[in-house]
Amino acid sequence: MAEVVIVDHREQAGELAAHAIRSLIEQQPDAVLGLATGSTPLPVYQALARSLEANPLDVSAVRGFALDEYVGLPEGHPESYRAVITREVVEPLGLTPSLVHLPGYNSPAIETAGANYERDITDAGGIDLQILGIGSTGHIGFNEPGSSFASLTRIKTLTEQTRQDNARFFDSIDDVPRHCLTQGLGTILRARHLVLLAFGEGKADAIAAAVEGPLTASQPGSAIQLHPHVTVLVDEAAASKLQNADYYRYTWANRPDWQTI
Ligand code: GLP
Repeated sequence: MAEVVIVDHREQAGELAAHAIRSLIEQQPDAVLGLATGSTPLPVYQALARSLEANPLDVSAVRGFALDEYVGLPEGHPESYRAVITREVVEPLGLTPSLVHLPGYNSPAIETAGANYERDITDAGGIDLQILGIGSTGHIGFNEPGSSFASLTRIKTLTEQTRQDNARFFDSIDDVPRHCLTQGLGTILRARHLVLLAFGEGKADAIAAAVEGPLTASQPGSAIQLHPHVTVLVDEAAASKLQNADYYRYTWANRPDWQTI
């Protein structure tokens, strides 16, 4: 079962996840992080940047693999996930840019991009900690409903709902790409620790389906139920449709002293 932690505000979720990442890097200076984009993980990166500023740690050997990338944006577009990851993660944390990878950049052709990305992740020894957000369609990464639980990195077509959700980052919806490259659900399930974050009422249905719903490709987030080490960090609004919310609160309040996420 996933460990569900219901927090008062998103900064608290950011602090918890940042603490887990920091501990990982302290134990393993060349840790491999799975990096998510979107607005949800920002408190994690901000809390980690604050922690590194207050108490420096050598992160120059840390490696990163982004979950996904748009296909078809002009090179250097500010909303490409390469640009977003550089702006929100690599620069504020001081990571080594050449050690942070996104799908599609290590391949001469789109047809081989997925296989090459899988090879690069495997060669790095796999992802130690994967940060995840969740889309309103229930997608994790860009694995839209119907994605196989065994899927690996590949090209996907975005749903119109996802294009509309992401249009806020672009001048017009016409500028939002129709395709992406995304780690598959199978790729995500190979990471050693999944940390899924969600905030706000708009994510309540997707979180309930992911944590408590039946396992179904129609709700790609439900794939997390197959993973032995998942932490779900949600605010009250995103937790509002969880049937066992009281049990999750009780479990967290009574966790053993030694237990971290
Ligand atoms: C995009 C990303 C997902 C992310 C989702 C939610 O579609 N590919 O990784 O989880 O948006 O975004 P937000 O966190 O901004 O709600």
